[in-house]
Amino acid sequence: MKSRRPLIAGNWKMNGLRQDGLALARGVAAKLANEGAPSCDLLVCPPATLISDVSGALAGTAVAVGGQDCHAAPSGAHTGDVSAPMLADLGCGYVIVGHSERRTDHGETDEAVRAKAVAAHKAGLIAIVCIGETEAERDQGRTIEVVAGQFHGSLPEGATAVDTVIAYEPVWAIGTGRTPTVADVAEVHAMIRREARTRMGDEAGKLRILYGGSMKPSNARELIAIDDVDGGLIGGASLKVEDFWAIAQSCP
Ligand code: PGA
Repeated sequence: MKSRRPLIAGNWKMNGLRQDGLALARGVAAKLANEGAPSCDLLVCPPATLISDVSGALAGTAVAVGGQDCHAAPSGAHTGDVSAPMLADLGCGYVIVGHSERRTDHGETDEAVRAKAVAAHKAGLIAIVCIGETEAERDQGRTIEVVAGQFHGSLPEGATAVDTVIAYEPVWAIGTGRTPTVADVAEVHAMIRREARTRMGDEAGKLRILYGGSMKPSNARELIAIDDVDGGLIGGASLKVEDFWAIAQSCP
């Protein structure tokens, strides 16, 4: 049993039509009903188009629903965007902010990510703030410096262990099948917790720090067993009920 209850979060990214999303959500709910609760909290983050259906399908289950991004403003002239209150209105309890694909595809800076996290908090959502180095940054030996910088730049003032989760996702590990060594993950997570102490004091001991990037059933157990790893943000493997469930069951 970990002192912090792990969170296993599925990031479905831009995948699935309504039928697929419903099948996936119902599959996870069925596992929970048939096999009992694993030792972790469960979350799925479908694309915006599926949130309403998935939220309906999971109502009354222990599986929470989250968005994959939100705008920093609650409403207004922002064509194509979705706000944090809109996500909350659909039954979301969480929202991912600052995923590396958002940072790369949409040029999101730490400052923009922080504003989104603030908006999430205002709407009563838990913000999952993503940070992680690129392969070039790792090769240059700059991992710690880069991740610490993103952590401080993306974390809102006054963030708590209740309203915020950190996801450390090395960019080069996302969707590639490659993962850092256990020692490398342990080093980065311990650093993040140390930095968190400078921001939130003892509360940092309760902050959940997820690992993300090619987490799958075959490596989840050793990754989640690391002291400062409090669960995972799972992309590809979260699209298969069996894999997502096996990862959830890897929590001690
Ligand atoms: P992956 O994605 O598990 O497919 O590597 C993780 C993520 O991007 O959140």
